[in-house]
Amino acid sequence: MKKITALFVFIVAAMLCNTSFAQKQDTLAKINALIKKMTVEEKVNMIHASSSFTSGGVKRLNIPELTTSDGPHGVRPEHGRDWQLDGDKLDSGTYLPVGVCLAATWNPQLGYAFGSVLGSEANYRGKDVILGPGINIIRSPLNGRNFEYLSEDPYLVSRMVVGNIKGIQDQGISACVKHYAGNNQESKRFTIDVNMSERALREIYLPGFKAAIQEAGANTIMGSYNKFRGQWASQNHYLLTHILRNEWNFKGIVMSDWDAVHNTMQALWNGMDLEMGTDLHMLPNPNYGKFWMGDTVISLVKSGKFPEYLLDEKVRRILYVMSKTKMLDGGRKKGEYNTKSHQQTAAKIAEEGIVLLKNQSNILPLNKTAVKTIAVIGYNAERKQSMGGGSSQVKAFYEVTPLQGLHNLLGTQVNIIYAKGYDITRGATANADLITEATQAAAKADAVIFVGGWTHGYNYSVWSDNAYDAEDIDKPNMQMPFGQDELIKAIVKANSKTVIVLMGGGAIDMTQWIDQTPAVLQSWYAGMEGGNALAKILFGEVNPSGKLPMTFPKKLEDHGSHALGEYPGDTAHSLLLNYYDDIYVGYRYYDTYKVEPQFAFGHGLSYTTFSYSDLKVKMNGKKATVTLTLKNTGKQAGAEVVQLYVSQPGSALPRPLKELKGFNKVFLQAGEQRTITIQLNEDAFQYYNDAMNKWVTDGGNYIIMVGSSSKDIRLSSSIKM
Ligand code: BGC
Repeated sequence: MKKITALFVFIVAAMLCNTSFAQKQDTLAKINALIKKMTVEEKVNMIHASSSFTSGGVKRLNIPELTTSDGPHGVRPEHGRDWQLDGDKLDSGTYLPVGVCLAATWNPQLGYAFGSVLGSEANYRGKDVILGPGINIIRSPLNGRNFEYLSEDPYLVSRMVVGNIKGIQDQGISACVKHYAGNNQESKRFTIDVNMSERALREIYLPGFKAAIQEAGANTIMGSYNKFRGQWASQNHYLLTHILRNEWNFKGIVMSDWDAVHNTMQALWNGMDLEMGTDLHMLPNPNYGKFWMGDTVISLVKSGKFPEYLLDEKVRRILYVMSKTKMLDGGRKKGEYNTKSHQQTAAKIAEEGIVLLKNQSNILPLNKTAVKTIAVIGYNAERKQSMGGGSSQVKAFYEVTPLQGLHNLLGTQVNIIYAKGYDITRGATANADLITEATQAAAKADAVIFVGGWTHGYNYSVWSDNAYDAEDIDKPNMQMPFGQDELIKAIVKANSKTVIVLMGGGAIDMTQWIDQTPAVLQSWYAGMEGGNALAKILFGEVNPSGKLPMTFPKKLEDHGSHALGEYPGDTAHSLLLNYYDDIYVGYRYYDTYKVEPQFAFGHGLSYTTFSYSDLKVKMNGKKATVTLTLKNTGKQAGAEVVQLYVSQPGSALPRPLKELKGFNKVFLQAGEQRTITIQLNEDAFQYYNDAMNKWVTDGGNYIIMVGSSSKDIRLSSSIKM
């Protein structure tokens, strides 16, 4: 009987395999048949933009345009084609927290939920591709687009990006992971030539992209603006052909960033499939045929200078993605927008992503029955952020600001006085009248909540004078803009029970006031529900569980990219930008070079406490199973992100002091304890040996460390390989 069952299972499995194989063959045959029917002109029409956010289709053969949409945090407002707004409330959608806030949750399941919202709303709006997630490594705190990205750590990036992409693509929409590669700053992004060691490329800058392609199966990827080792990234043979196609076996579409192609032959030969861009020069009568991958290609093919079968390959990839996402035969999901459940996802990510950085003497949470009057101070308390940042701006269905969130939570129970405290014009210094108004408010209150930090520049940075955290421009330094240092010092003098809430895509210099302020939170740009989430954390209805996905330096010059590396590149002499900081990015630099950060990578406090015990490491060849006991030792439920770092003292090549190789976000009731298991595969112990051009595992000793941040290691254990 057993034998018969086994045979049956085998036959069914074989049939299933054959079916999917047969289906694949069938799809391929259909695609090839379509290509056969196409003229060269029609094929070329498909490999370049047909409007700002679409690429060409072939009406005669029922091949639709491919419709893309920014951005990473919400879907563009128009239905279908670009710029044509519906002009009513329907053109606004769910505004999710920015990428760096998502990463600060350290919760991959939320990555999936985030992607599902985007996929669903993209379906509703008739979009085919979400231009995101953006996953470039956070190298310098100054990068204007750090808010869109995820982390300084490649492992954290990889874990968060996989869920996000699967979430988008499970809705039948394509994700477009961007910007590949070496686009780690906005300053000079159109001109710099990024140069880094092969080791830095493999260990730091590529793993997120590799996970996006190989683990998540991203359908599309976007080449970046910058040059990489002398050749434009969007026509770069090493990045697009050698690594992406040959090593990673990528089958989907490589599209360029908008206007990032510079040469027809290089783009055609080196692996670019689809040239995107906005024909700004030709507005209002754009001529997309004039693109590098436009009409020129027709004559190149017709004169035999570029083989038609290679043009067919590009078209085949586009059709393959169209077929995968049911663009050719119908059957796409309808999608939903602005649902309660989408808004709840935005709320959950904000609640888990806001990071409690400092909480001296447990000044937080505030008690709404004890506090009679609070002063809320700062422009960001009432500024809406959703239209900030450039291409990632979102037309939000609504956006709860911090001030609104506090009103929602406290109702009439607590008296709220608001003072804006500062003006947000670039270069503005401390405004004496506004400071006086703010300190008077602070003096009258039982507690002060200051909400400031960076601003999210509206429109494109270059046109907006308050643009920090915006596309196309980096921050000039890490100093608080608009005279906020003076303001905070004056407020704290007036009322020592002051909580500082910082918005922004990353670190700000806190050195002038951090020692005098009892509590600090990092609230990023936390999406449409950000204000509610913040209020709930401040008043203890939500226990914070976010952890920093990047190191916060005390001073800019402490940071590895500035201390060791070149930034932003010396245009006077050369456009070459050398990443001399190499593999010492973020905490890898602080740990190894023994520099004290303001707040360490992985840091984030809770209103409860956790104990770590009983660490055991069981080796199985070159793999390890790590177990430990985590207990919630406080009085309320909460979540801890157990972080696992691997260290290899005495490695053959120098290595960072420790590297993140596993984590687990664990939710525990008060008093509850649980055994946590983290599996380590061989790659957790490896480094890239660029003399040998491969990943290697040295024999010898390794240390497994587990803890609550990269600087708060609670347990460690030595193993031998
Ligand atoms: C940005 C991309 C964006 C594209 C389309 C470019 O300038 O770098 O991230 O997807 O514009 O808006």
